[in-house]
Amino acid sequence: MSYDIAIIPGDGIGNGVTDSTEPLLINLAEKYGVDIQTTRFDWGSERYLDKGTLMPDDGLDTLEKFDSILLGAVGHPDVPDHVTLRNLRLPITKGFNQHICKRPSYLFEGVQSPLRGYSGGDIDLVVYRQNTEGEYADVGGREHRGFENEVAVQSAVYTREGTEAIVRAAFEAATERRGKVTNITKSNAQAYGMVFWDEVVSEIGEEYPNIEVERLLVDAGSMDFVRRPDEFDVVVASNLFGDILTDIGGIISGSLGIAPSTNINPTGEYPSMFEPVHGSAFDIMGEGIANPIGMVLSISLMFEHLNEEEISKALWDGVSEQLADANGPRTPDIGGNSTTSDVVGDLENRLLK
Ligand code: NAI
Ligand code: MG
Repeated sequence: MSYDIAIIPGDGIGNGVTDSTEPLLINLAEKYGVDIQTTRFDWGSERYLDKGTLMPDDGLDTLEKFDSILLGAVGHPDVPDHVTLRNLRLPITKGFNQHICKRPSYLFEGVQSPLRGYSGGDIDLVVYRQNTEGEYADVGGREHRGFENEVAVQSAVYTREGTEAIVRAAFEAATERRGKVTNITKSNAQAYGMVFWDEVVSEIGEEYPNIEVERLLVDAGSMDFVRRPDEFDVVVASNLFGDILTDIGGIISGSLGIAPSTNINPTGEYPSMFEPVHGSAFDIMGEGIANPIGMVLSISLMFEHLNEEEISKALWDGVSEQLADANGPRTPDIGGNSTTSDVVGDLENRLLK
C-alpha cells in the first residue's frame, strides 16, 4: 500500500511535534511494507504575516488529492486567535465535511494523573465531538461597531443530519467498548438546540437497547470528569462542549501534550485530518520540549482510519511501553526533563529496531 500524506506543521510547537515525528511515521510504515509519501505545506501564521493569508485560496483543492492530512497546531502571539482558527483549521474541517471528531483520553501506566488515586488504565474514555456545526457555525454578525448600541450575535446551529451522525458514531463506538454513552448538553439553558440534541440521543438510543445512556448537563459533566472520570466510557457532545471537555480529558490523563484527535470524513469523499488536541503553546514554543506523544497517537489514529491496524497498534503500544518504563524519557509536562527529540528518538529505538 501507499499513501500520500499532507503535513501542515503550522505554528509554535506544531512545528516541533511534526518535524520530529515525520521520519518515524515514514520509517515505521516502511517496516510494515507501507509506502508513505509526505508533502509539507508552510501554511500558518508566518505566511499570514508575510502574505496576508494562512493558506492559498486554492488550499482545499490542493489538499483534496491526499489520503490524509496531519496538522501540528495553529495560533501565533501576533495574530488574533479567531483569525488563525477560522482561516486554516475550520475551513479544512468544514470544507472536507470532517464532522466526526473522536478524542480518546487514556491514562497510561507510568503517567501521573493530577487526580489522586488513579493509575494506568483507570481513565479510559473517548469523546465524540460534533465537529462542523453547533456553536462553531459561522452564523452571526456585528453591527453598529463603536457605538453605544453595538451588538454582536453568535448563533449555534444543530442539523438533524449532523446531530444524528455524531450520536450514532458514539453509540457504535460504545458497542465496541464498555457499552455506555454519556450525553453531555446544557438543555436547561439552551432549550432549542440542545433539547433537540437530547431528543436525537433518545431516538437513536432506542436502536441500541444494550447501551446504557447517561445524561449530564455540561457544568456537572465537567465536574464529573474530575470527580469520577473512571465512570465514563463514550461521551457525546457538541462542538464547543467537546472542545472544552477534551482539554479536561487531556489533563486528567497526565497532560494535554499526550492527547490525540481526529477529524473524520466518514464517507471518504474527502481526506480526514489528524492532529493533537493541543494548540501552539505560546508558553513553551521554541524550547524544543513540547511533548510529541499527542502527535504520535494522532498518527496512530490516522493509520487506524486508513485500516493499517498493525502500524496503528505498533505506535500506540510503543508509546504505552515507553511511558511505563520508569527510565524512559519524558518531557517536562509529564514530570521529566527530556526534549521532544529525546522522546521520539527513544520511540524510534523501540519501534524500528
Ligand atoms: P495550548 O493547547 O496551546 O496550551 C495549553 C497549555 O498546555 C499550555 O500551558 C501548554 O504549554 C500546554 N501544552 C500544550 N501542548 C503541549 C505539549 N505538546 N507539550 C507540553 N505542554 C503542552 O492552548 P492555548 O495556550 O490556549 O492556545 C495557544 C494557541 O493555540 C492559541 O492561538 C489558540 O487559538 C491555538 N490553538 C490551536 C489549536 C489547533 O490548532 N487545533 C487548538 C487549541 C488552541
Ligand atoms: Mg481545543
